[in-house]
Amino acid sequence: MDKQTFESKIKRVVISEQEIKTAVRGLGERISREYENKPLLLLGILKGSFVFLSDLCREITIPCEVEFMAAKSYYSGTESSGNVTITYDIKRDISKYNVIIVEDIIDTGRTLKDIVKLLKDRNPISLKVFTLLDKPSRRLVDFEADEALFTIPDFFVIGYGLDCGEIYRNLPYIAEFSE
Ligand code: IMP
Ligand code: MG
Repeated sequence: MDKQTFESKIKRVVISEQEIKTAVRGLGERISREYENKPLLLLGILKGSFVFLSDLCREITIPCEVEFMAAKSYYSGTESSGNVTITYDIKRDISKYNVIIVEDIIDTGRTLKDIVKLLKDRNPISLKVFTLLDKPSRRLVDFEADEALFTIPDFFVIGYGLDCGEIYRNLPYIAEFSE
């Protein structure tokens, strides 16, 4: 893709770099207080959460470990395929950890509903879900995060880890994608 096409599809900034930074800092502070003296594992869902997780973990001031899982629900473009597959699983035992799932966005809710069910069966000490974005109007299954930093209406967003066809993850802000 050439630079001009790339830029032409960024419709408008929805959440600025500064707004994200402030919200992520606040979450990091809350986690640092809530999980003090508790074994903490941050579990990022790849690939979308990699930017959020890397910023969030640097706002956490207590010891924590980091792991990743990969799930795929969008195969291309902007519509969900409707089935979730775990393409990369954590290999360690999580039963001695307070696990925080770090996700980029909850849309239909299918991905996280499946992942949470899978992880609960592995008996972590506690399990919470923190998502950067939430699109509640798109929900197809009954699922809510413990905390969403931003709630947005039903439009496709890119940037800060979120892609469209694998492009745009590197934008430092969240933007609306122009179809
Ligand atoms: P869900 O299973 O429908 O909740 O899908 C969640 C996944 O779909 C997220 O982790 C994203 O990878 C992807 N997704 C959902 N909405 C968007 C969006 O607006 N932009 C980019 N990716 C999205
Ligand atoms: Mg994702």
